[in-house]
Amino acid sequence: MGLAACSRFLFLEKVLVPITIEDMKREDIDEILEIERASFPSPWSGEAFLTELKERDSSCFLVAKSEGRVVGYAGFWLIFDEAHITNLAVHPEYRKKKIGERLIRFLLKLAVSKGAKRATLEVRPSNLAAQNLYKKFGFEVGGIQKGYYNDTGEDALIMWNKNLGGL
Ligand SMILES: CC(C)(COP(=O)(O)OP(=O)(O)OC[C@H]1O[C@@H](n2cnc3c(N)ncnc32)[C@H](O)[C@@H]1OP(=O)(O)O)[C@@H](O)C(=O)NCCC(=O)NCCS
Repeated sequence: MGLAACSRFLFLEKVLVPITIEDMKREDIDEILEIERASFPSPWSGEAFLTELKERDSSCFLVAKSEGRVVGYAGFWLIFDEAHITNLAVHPEYRKKKIGERLIRFLLKLAVSKGAKRATLEVRPSNLAAQNLYKKFGFEVGGIQKGYYNDTGEDALIMWNKNLGGL
């Protein structure tokens, strides 16, 4: 194999999967549930996602789609000037392709446009992938909630970005 072919391969490796990011709709929920069940020991129900759709004043939920398929989603509640990130997951087959990063970037910009100055979330101490992602967006551990996760009894790390304007 010549050098040209090698360099072309390296170039293709860096191309990101094209995605669109849009508001969650009712018809996205079945695909979201598939990702939810593959991602969390205690997945949200379809009813829980429907409730988010009904609470449009305080809740924002986004989906990332690739070729029309839901490949990730993220949501937050806006409580005064704080964005509480409630959910984030990427389809296992689409991970490590910067989809989580693109979703969080979009979500935080949306939160700022709605008046958020700070953002917070809970994450399992064992979930290093998510913690690393959040750290890239200025989140730091600000506290621990003992026994937060009912399924395993695990504590939650409470992470904060207290200056979204600095992003
Ligand atoms: C956490 C999650 C959303 C990351 O999504 P993703 O699209 O795979 O992540 P990205 O490709 O955008 O990666 C962005 C950064 O996250 C971190 N990261 C992602 N996956 C990682 C892994 N397996 N190990 C360590 N760090 C990881 C890295 O810092 C990465 O940046 P880098 O590529 O420059 O190293 C995904 O792993 C997931 O859906 N996990 C299950 C659900 C979950 O845990 N949600 C969070 C609940 S708090």
